[in-house]
Amino acid sequence: MKCDILTLFPDIVNAYLKESILKRAQEGKLLEVKIYNLRDFAAGRHKVLDDYPFGGGPGMVIKPEPLFKAIEHIKKDGLPRRVILLSPQGKTFTQSMAEEFSREKQRVVFICGRYEGIDERVRLRLVNEEVSIGDYVLTGGELGALVIIDSAVRLIPGALGDERSADEESFSWGLLDYPQYTRPREFQGMRVPDVLISGNHKEIWLWRRKEALRKTIKMRPDLIKKIKLADIDKKLISEIEGEE
Ligand code: ADE
Repeated sequence: MKCDILTLFPDIVNAYLKESILKRAQEGKLLEVKIYNLRDFAAGRHKVLDDYPFGGGPGMVIKPEPLFKAIEHIKKDGLPRRVILLSPQGKTFTQSMAEEFSREKQRVVFICGRYEGIDERVRLRLVNEEVSIGDYVLTGGELGALVIIDSAVRLIPGALGDERSADEESFSWGLLDYPQYTRPREFQGMRVPDVLISGNHKEIWLWRRKEALRKTIKMRPDLIKKIKLADIDKKLISEIEGEE
């Protein structure tokens, strides 16, 4: 995945990208990120980026000129790019969008908005897609860009160090995660379920599938409606219903 991030706060973005899996992914050339400071594209000695909204109202609006200048600068290598604006008005980000970003061959430009918003002409002329990471309002788009990059990069083969980790997790089944345990076998009187120590892979798979179904039915019944249940799932669900 290759991206350009346009932000007023490069340090916020850099702090996250320079640690852990995203750091390793960059070292391994699975992820390439260039961070641009929007202020570098502001005009005049005072580098003013925002102004009062026409028509009045609270807050400030990011002016069009610095964003047009920055995007022109970023695009000057002539490579095709997908320009994403992070905002609460966008399409809500999902795991299937993360999968799509993880396979993206074009460079992706993330515009991180701040203040009350950006001049509409940026949307009209420069932005290909607007994405929101959820129905709440953040102080800026930086966390949104990082959420997209983080969730996409961990799906790139090799990024997690263990090829199987991402597609064996139960979220890729469309369900919430099953419970995980590690040593010790007994902790403060709580024992690890025997089946996980049995070495019987078929039984372990069934237990995990059942517990993932149980958790999803309880916490996110909306997700159950979206997945295609196999016959075994229907059997496991009727067992769960019998137990509750
Ligand atoms: N900027 C402010 N709120 C946001 C949200 N919910 N998603 C993405 N970018 C944002």
